[in-house]
Amino acid sequence: MSLSTESSIRLVTAIPGPRSLELQKQREQIVPRGVASVLPVFIERASGATLEDIDGNRFLDFTGGIGCQNAGHCVPEVVTAIEEQADEFLHTCFMVTPYEGYLRLAEHLNSRTPGNFPKKTFFLNSGAEAVENAIKIARNYTQRQAVIAFDDAFHGRTQLALSLTGKSHPYKTGFGPFAPEIYRMPFAYCYRCSYNLTHPGCDVECAKQLEMTFKRRVDAGAVAALIFEPVLGEGGFVTPPAEWFAVIADICRKHGIVIIADEIQTGFCRTGPLFASTRFGLEPDIILTGKSIAGGLPLAAVTGRAEIMDSPPPGGLGGTYGGNPVSCAAALEMFQAVDRLNLPARAECIGQLFESITRNWGHRFPIIGDIRGLGAMRAIELVKDRATKEPAPEEAKQVLAACHQRGLLIISAGTFGNVIRMLVPLIATDSQIEEGLRILEEALASVS
Ligand SMILES: Cc1ncc(COP(=O)(O)O)c(C=O)c1O
Repeated sequence: MSLSTESSIRLVTAIPGPRSLELQKQREQIVPRGVASVLPVFIERASGATLEDIDGNRFLDFTGGIGCQNAGHCVPEVVTAIEEQADEFLHTCFMVTPYEGYLRLAEHLNSRTPGNFPKKTFFLNSGAEAVENAIKIARNYTQRQAVIAFDDAFHGRTQLALSLTGKSHPYKTGFGPFAPEIYRMPFAYCYRCSYNLTHPGCDVECAKQLEMTFKRRVDAGAVAALIFEPVLGEGGFVTPPAEWFAVIADICRKHGIVIIADEIQTGFCRTGPLFASTRFGLEPDIILTGKSIAGGLPLAAVTGRAEIMDSPPPGGLGGTYGGNPVSCAAALEMFQAVDRLNLPARAECIGQLFESITRNWGHRFPIIGDIRGLGAMRAIELVKDRATKEPAPEEAKQVLAACHQRGLLIISAGTFGNVIRMLVPLIATDSQIEEGLRILEEALASVS
């Protein structure tokens, strides 16, 4: 496996440096504050698992543009594919004149997503668009309207996707009204079980409560789809017990409800296999991909059972830029990169390294409430008090700031903003992972 050898953080100025500071001042005048940035450093170049800013500071990147750089920044073959496609043509609109790259990519997704049944795929620009389209298709196919979504879910910021998202501040507050016919239930958040039960004694009561939702909130016969993230992304890397998926899937199948797996953050080997659903033996009716699919270019996909996907009539689906030829060319190379770099195995290794390094952190740092995740999708939940589990968002901010000042770029997650999440590019070397975790350890020590 060829791995990036760049590991060194280089801080030449205080963070942010003078040039970034100047642009940051301009940005405040030009860009609305609603579009927030974690760190006010302006980036000049990126490679592998490192970012370099315009002041010459180099950061170790544990965010990958929020899960978009699973194969690393600027994979050379992806960059070449982009250049070659840009030389041929940039855009015709697939809805006007198609091109072969779109087909080849759809073919990859049809064959490599879980489920050995005929599938079809089409492309959009963003994860939120993929979510919206999946709901449209499920509604059209079932001729039902209701959708089940989960607490702590994140499905995007456009209006229907936002309505499905389960976190008020800052995503939903003041942005209503929200789309109707969305019914919510607690996710399998074992650390904060909504039913005050403990796994495995609970017998995944949270999954069985789906039947109760049909009694109390919406009739099963009115439900078009259930949408879920196999591991919550923005919600804090909450990982359900394996049997949760089987119970949810059985209930959905019994009632003819379309199962939509939002793998926009969990996909492309973040949890190990190409798709997290595979880990749980789940074959969703529709699976959504985005983020890392095109190595950093805007692209998202909806892949599903052929008979469901073919329900909307010609013209019922699409979008001007959906499946742009340059993004398709990049994504085709991304599939090659996944195999060439053996990203599933690398994600497992990173997960094991994370586990071995953080093994005794729970004993050392009382602020840590839970350490969890799957493959290379790992997180640490911080609490003020282990007995009450009171979230510690301020302390999480301090930990992040301490990391940033030491050159480690890392972000938070969770409904309470108290989860530190790792989305490191999977091509990061062992020494980069060790370096990043050593910085995180120092940062935790500084607030404990
Ligand atoms: C699970 C999940 N679904 C949907 C989205 C929305 O994707 P986008 O920001 O590309 O619209 C995200 C983005 O973070 C996500 O993590």
